[in-house]
Amino acid sequence: MMPRGSRIYVAGHLGMVGSAVMRALRAAGHDGAFGLPSSGLDLRDPAATAAFFGRERPDVVVMAAGRVGGVRANLADRYGFLRDNLLMALNVVESARLAGVRRLLYVGSSCAYPRDAAQPFREDSLLTGAFEPTNEGYAAAKAAGVRLCDFARERHGCDFFSVMPCNLFGPGDDFVSEDSHVVPALIRRMRAAKESGAGSVRLWGTGAPLREFLHVDDLARACVLLLGLPRPPALINVGSGQEVSVRDLAALVARTVGFTGRIEFDPAMPDGAPRKLLDVSRIRALGWSPRLSLEEGLRDAYAWHLANAAEARK
Ligand SMILES: NC(=O)c1ccc[n+]([C@@H]2O[C@H](COP(=O)([O-])OP(=O)(O)OC[C@H]3O[C@@H](n4cnc5c(N)ncnc54)[C@H](OP(=O)(O)O)[C@@H]3O)[C@@H](O)[C@H]2O)c1
Repeated sequence: MMPRGSRIYVAGHLGMVGSAVMRALRAAGHDGAFGLPSSGLDLRDPAATAAFFGRERPDVVVMAAGRVGGVRANLADRYGFLRDNLLMALNVVESARLAGVRRLLYVGSSCAYPRDAAQPFREDSLLTGAFEPTNEGYAAAKAAGVRLCDFARERHGCDFFSVMPCNLFGPGDDFVSEDSHVVPALIRRMRAAKESGAGSVRLWGTGAPLREFLHVDDLARACVLLLGLPRPPALINVGSGQEVSVRDLAALVARTVGFTGRIEFDPAMPDGAPRKLLDVSRIRALGWSPRLSLEEGLRDAYAWHLANAAEARK
C-alpha cells in the first residue's frame, strides 16, 4: 500500500516524532519523504495548506505536526492549544482529502482518552468520558483529529487512520524549556545536579504514579509498518505496554546520567493521574514490539542530549 517511490509528506518533519518517522521511512527504503518547516508553511493557515497540497500532490501523509507542551503550558493556554491543534488537523486532513491523498496517518495522543476510562486504555474508550481538565484543549483537538479521519473515511472513502502513542522520548526531544516532558526534564536536571556537585534533586509529587514510555524510534517503526499494511486499523495504540513508577524512572535516569546524589520527592506537589497505560494488544497482534528497552532508550536519549545540548531547541 505504500510502494517505493511514493511521495510522502511528513508534517512536522523537524519535530521529535516527525524526524523519527523520516529516519524510519528512509531506513525502510522510502526516499520520497519530505517536509517543510513551519516558517515555510504555517499549517494553521487553510489557504496556504491547501495551496501546498495542490502543488506538491503527496501520495501519503504523516500528520506529526502539533503544538505540544507540559501541564503548565497547557493549563495556561487551553484555548491556544485547542485552536492551533484543531486548525492544523483540520487543514491537513481537508487538504489531503481534496488533493486525493491515498493514505494519511494522523498522530494522536493517549492524552485524548477519557481521564476515568478503564485501564489499560482500549481504542474503543475514546470519547466515552470527560478529558483530563488540565490538558483539555490539547486532548479535545487530538480526539477531533481522530474523528476527522474516521468521518473522512466514512463519508468520502478516504484511507485515513490514527495512531495513539503513549509518552514518547528520544532524539529531538525538548531538553531546554522549563516546561518539557518528564524524561527530558529528569535528564536535564540530573545532569545539571551531577555537574554542579549537588547532593540531591527534588521532584514533584510522591513518585508513585505509573507511566508508560516508548522511544520515539519504536513509534516510528510502528508507523512505517502500519502505512505498509493493506488495511490499517482506524485507530491503534502504540506503547511499550509496560508501566514504570516515576520513582523508578528517576532512579533509571540517575543511573544513565551518572548522578549519585539523593532523589527526593515533594508530596505537597500534584501527582497527576495515578496510572496511564495503553492496551497494546492490537499493535502486538500485528507483529510489532519495541526494539529498545527503557534503559537502552534512555541511554540513546542522553547521548543525543549530550551531543546537541549546545543548540537550544526552543
Ligand atoms: N512527545 C510526546 O510524548 C507525544 C506523545 C504522543 C503524541 N504526540 C504527538 O506527536 C505530534 C508531534 O509531537 P512532537 O513531540 O514531535 O512535537 P515537537 O517535537 O514539538 O514537533 C512538533 C512539530 O510540529 C511542527 N509545527 C508546530 N506548529 C506548526 C505550525 N503552525 N505549522 C506547521 N508546523 C508546525 C513543528 O515545526 P517546526 O519545528 O518547523 O516549527 C515541529 O516540527 C504531536 O501532534 C503530538 O500530539 C507526542
